[in-house]
Amino acid sequence: MCGIVGYIGNKEAYPILMNGLKRLEYRGYDSAGIALLNGQPLLYKKKGKVNDLENYISDSIISGQLGIGHTRWATHGEPNDVNAHPHTSEHGKFIIIHNGIIENYARIKEKLEIRGVTFKSATDTEVLANLIEYIYIKGQVTAEIAVRLALSKVEGAYGLVILCVDEPDRLIAARKGSPLVVGVGDEEYFIASDATPIVEHTKSVIYLNDDDVAIIKKDELVLKTVKNDKQTPIVHQLDLDVGEIDKSGYDHFMLKEIFEQPKSILDTFRGRVAPDLSGLNLGGLFNVIPQMVKAKRIIIVACGTSWHAGLLGEYLMEDMARIPVEVEYASEFRYRNPIINMDDIVIAISQSGETADTLAAIRLAKEKGALVLGICNVVGSSIPRETDAGVYTHAGPEIGVASTKAFTTQVTVLAMMAMVMGHKRGYLSDKKYLGLIKELTEIPGKIEKILVKSDACKELATLYQRATNFLYLGRGYFFPVALEGALKLKEISYIHAEGYPAAEMKHGPIALIDQNMPVVVIATKDKSYDKIVSNIQEVKARNGVVIAIVTEGDSVIRKLADHVFEVPESNIAFEGLLTVVPLQLLSYYIAVMRGCNVDQPRNLAKSVTVE
Ligand code: G6P
Repeated sequence: MCGIVGYIGNKEAYPILMNGLKRLEYRGYDSAGIALLNGQPLLYKKKGKVNDLENYISDSIISGQLGIGHTRWATHGEPNDVNAHPHTSEHGKFIIIHNGIIENYARIKEKLEIRGVTFKSATDTEVLANLIEYIYIKGQVTAEIAVRLALSKVEGAYGLVILCVDEPDRLIAARKGSPLVVGVGDEEYFIASDATPIVEHTKSVIYLNDDDVAIIKKDELVLKTVKNDKQTPIVHQLDLDVGEIDKSGYDHFMLKEIFEQPKSILDTFRGRVAPDLSGLNLGGLFNVIPQMVKAKRIIIVACGTSWHAGLLGEYLMEDMARIPVEVEYASEFRYRNPIINMDDIVIAISQSGETADTLAAIRLAKEKGALVLGICNVVGSSIPRETDAGVYTHAGPEIGVASTKAFTTQVTVLAMMAMVMGHKRGYLSDKKYLGLIKELTEIPGKIEKILVKSDACKELATLYQRATNFLYLGRGYFFPVALEGALKLKEISYIHAEGYPAAEMKHGPIALIDQNMPVVVIATKDKSYDKIVSNIQEVKARNGVVIAIVTEGDSVIRKLADHVFEVPESNIAFEGLLTVVPLQLLSYYIAVMRGCNVDQPRNLAKSVTVE
């Protein structure tokens, strides 16, 4: 998920690259770097944000008309200065930036080490840089031939831009699996992982195909395959605003992110669920698991959607691990002199890892001696830096302000934590634990089945787009889902919506119900099914309109409700991950139909760094 930018032409490359990195920053956040060729290579890289790199470079005189820049989202190697891109080969002949993963890097590295090559970083990218250089020196071939030969030995995915100090009139770019776009200017070319940094310079672009290698001089682009077959570059015209780029064909980032959820959850599983489903391994918590297992109390602190994930975490952890859990708004927790004991565990949940109140809450908890854990999406952000241990959700950058895939991946992590603790504490037998792992891993496939029915949500949106109030009801695991459904709707469509525990409806909201009030009820089959059926009848008796989210094959609610949306059956503990999806889609389509700015709703921010 890193960002790549490159430039060759007659202008100063540095401002173009720096500006490009800022545009690409949503793609990667943990480190950034720039390299230029101007006689000697100039290389600057820094852990942290693009601004940190800019401040770091600020006093340097940096000039050159050829260069590359990169903003990183760590895959191999922790985020630090050394692992930041660009990477230089051992003898300094090649400087490269890379998106993707070289899957056979360990084998290549071993072979190179046997031949005496040494490495500075823990990245797969440096292995590739050294492989290219090894072939270049040993084979006495051109840089282009060395690159193509090296790539023929590589398994995995890459988007690459390469500088060779001996051939300072060209950039070499290659793509397999990881996108690269070349911008065509007047005696200049731009290259980037998406068109965001290019569109302000030129609208003429060439999309590289898998296995393409481009040799780019300022006045010439030669395109061939890794196997040296000549290709004809096809120039396309961009017809996009900067803000619309990289939505992969979706109208909005939010819709793209809703549809990405099966993949995001699989990314959350990656390396944590044993391939034979025989166990869970939360590497980031390895050292603190014994403390977690003995914890007397867990306090979850978060804001917004992350707080809703925390509420689901409470149900999961109390149910599976039998540890008392409290869920607090970070902003309340930090100012109310909370009681925090040394044997409490505080878990901060945050997509951005930068929310000011959540950050302040964990600082308070640390002062009071609690073990503080983080569940964050943005690698290298403040909360993971300040917590004692934690788990990244690895959902990938979430750009839509209304959080979707962050929520489902946070709940996935909380479920895994609950299962690990429950198993170690003896509340989940081996059989139950393995059964839960199997059911959890089936969730992405079940979300896919929901997503193919997105048109049904669109039809509902057509019917209810003009409503002024919505009520969302759920019991147990579905009360947090009701809250999240209501939040999604109000955030992006500006319709007033409230989430309530279904049984609480009688203590107030029932007074609001009439024929103009859509009531969304999450009513899948569980032990309180009969009770929720009664709640639906109560709504219908007052002429309310019921939209019910039900288990596949439900026949009882189908007869009562005005509309039903079926979701596949799963373990009740994981059905929050399924039932939230139609609610996200409903909000999205209603907001679109009301002409709202879905990705940038008024008054909201993606990352709230002020109190
Ligand atoms: C903002 C965002 C929400 C998010 C909340 C918490 O309000 O608009 O989508 O849930 O902040 O953010 P965090 O990054 O801490 O999860």
